[in-house]
Amino acid sequence: MQAARLKIDKVAQSGVPILIQGDSGTGKGLMACFIHNISPDPHAAFVKVNCAAIPGELLESELFGYEKGSFTGAHAAKPGRVEMADGGTLFLDGIDEIDMSLQAKLLQLLQDGQFSRIGGQEDRRVQVRLICATNRQLELQIANGRFRQDLFYRINVVSLQLPALRARSEDIPDLVAYFLQNHKARHNMLARPLSATTFNLLVRHPWPGNIRELENLMERYVILGSEDAISSELLNWEKTHALPEIHVDGQIHLKKVTRQAVHDLERKIILSVLEANRWNRKKTASALKISYRALLYKIRRAGLPPKRGMVHPDIGSVHPSGAVD
Ligand SMILES: Nc1ncnc2c1ncn2[C@@H]1O[C@H](COP(=O)(O)OP(=O)(O)OP(=O)(O)O)[C@@H](O)[C@H]1O
Ligand SMILES: [Mg+2]
Repeated sequence: MQAARLKIDKVAQSGVPILIQGDSGTGKGLMACFIHNISPDPHAAFVKVNCAAIPGELLESELFGYEKGSFTGAHAAKPGRVEMADGGTLFLDGIDEIDMSLQAKLLQLLQDGQFSRIGGQEDRRVQVRLICATNRQLELQIANGRFRQDLFYRINVVSLQLPALRARSEDIPDLVAYFLQNHKARHNMLARPLSATTFNLLVRHPWPGNIRELENLMERYVILGSEDAISSELLNWEKTHALPEIHVDGQIHLKKVTRQAVHDLERKIILSVLEANRWNRKKTASALKISYRALLYKIRRAGLPPKRGMVHPDIGSVHPSGAVD
């Protein structure tokens, strides 16, 4: 985080595009606001567009605006968010969700600062600082042909990779102190400092939801006023995500257990790459750098359906052997 902070201090004053990458809840949105706030003109507009929340066909008019009569229902001209951000910051959250045709338009905006509204003949110019954020690996999207490489270079002049919370667990005490103070004031409630035992649990927890998850937990603690409630929540998580149970005689078949874990991981990866390629098995095989035949074999072994829609009755608990629990 300190490296990220140093980088921002250096680049916030310039108007270069910044790409923020990091898992969900690591603070990308907060970081984008922060960059704007330390930019030369923090009073200029900060316009956020949540690309994942706006359907593809609406996103173009939302971003670039439209002229009167350009489509049914366009009774008056409307400027888009790009124009609203003129002189300030345009924050495109979930940039990986933008489809290819819109990516081309965005590229043009970045290359020569020009764009036109939908149905408009006139080229318009704006001065915006672009900040993009994503929790996907854009390099993978490029390899899958879903994201333009030239656009990637343009938006990625400066890149910030925000670490997962589990990789910065030494920051947990500071974050806890901050969230407790914040939520006590917000809810006008008191809360005792956490015990060392609970802190141990906090440091051990892997935080799949990152800082957002920690913040929510601290808010619950302030509201419930009970340390037991949150520690049992963390312990329950550990129990349900625990390592395989060790036999009563204290023995564990390491080979068998790790083989099973590898199969489970392989199944998850294949499934997500199949989904990413809309179940096109040729593309999936090439994305996974395995042969088509090997993929078919692995699909069968993982108990996955051969085609989308042919969902197995109990797909969640199919053994690699194909046997169902
Ligand atoms: N360094 C921090 N200090 C205090 N609070 C933080 C910090 N980083 C993130 N948060 C808080 O954690 C929550 C999640 O942050 P944010 O929404 O910026 O994450 P995100 O990476 O944009 O997540 P997503 O990918 O789901 O959109 C917010 O409530 C934010 O205020
Ligand atoms: Mg966000």
